Amino acid sequence: MKNMIVSPSILVCDYLHLEQELQKIKDVGCSWIHLDVMDGHFVPNISFGNIFFEKLFKNIDFVKDVHLMVTNPMSFVKKFAKTGADYLTFHYEACKDDDEVDAVIDEIHKNKMKAGLSVKPGTPIEKVYPFLEKLDLVLVMSVEPGAGGQKFIPETLDRISALIDEIVETRSKALISVDGGINDITGKDCLNIGADVLVAGNYLFSADNFKERYDSLFK
Ligand code: DX5
Ligand code: ZN
Repeated sequence: MKNMIVSPSILVCDYLHLEQELQKIKDVGCSWIHLDVMDGHFVPNISFGNIFFEKLFKNIDFVKDVHLMVTNPMSFVKKFAKTGADYLTFHYEACKDDDEVDAVIDEIHKNKMKAGLSVKPGTPIEKVYPFLEKLDLVLVMSVEPGAGGQKFIPETLDRISALIDEIVETRSKALISVDGGINDITGKDCLNIGADVLVAGNYLFSADNFKERYDSLFK
């Protein structure tokens, strides 16, 4: 097993006690957090966004892994750079063509963030291949984007395996992150085939014992 990273998604955490929720992440020695930005257009729900992050990120010390589920990602790059995001991931399906995907990646890098590209479960994984050389992260969706607490789509494992072959072949430095329905079983399945990052929301935050759940992703 490679070095693995857990990126807890705070979408389903207790917002009234956000400080304590973030402390739980710190206490287990986890250094990443995953932030799901939904615009009510690319996906039906609306979550939180750059104004909220501007305040929040000033006071926290994590690798801030921002997942944009928005239409027209280009128009948000500078706004999220201003928040202090570390990784900015956008959706392949939100772009009109490959040139736009390429331009958004360049804009993210120009604004000193790491660039991630995400694909929905129904999008052929091959669509990300032309960008692997430039990408820092590929976010493979293992559920339809738009909500936490859904069931992991098993076919995702074949998509990850294909992606890993391509990453090895092209010597890409991109991390493979998997998002949606991650628990102790699906998480291990992903890690065993070579994923680098597990995004987990409901599994971690729905339990009384965050640490037990967190540790179970490794054991
Ligand atoms: C779904 C989001 C996920 C979600 C993961 O659109 O991208 O990050 O919060 O939540 P769980 O782990 O509950 O599936
Ligand atoms: Zn996400």
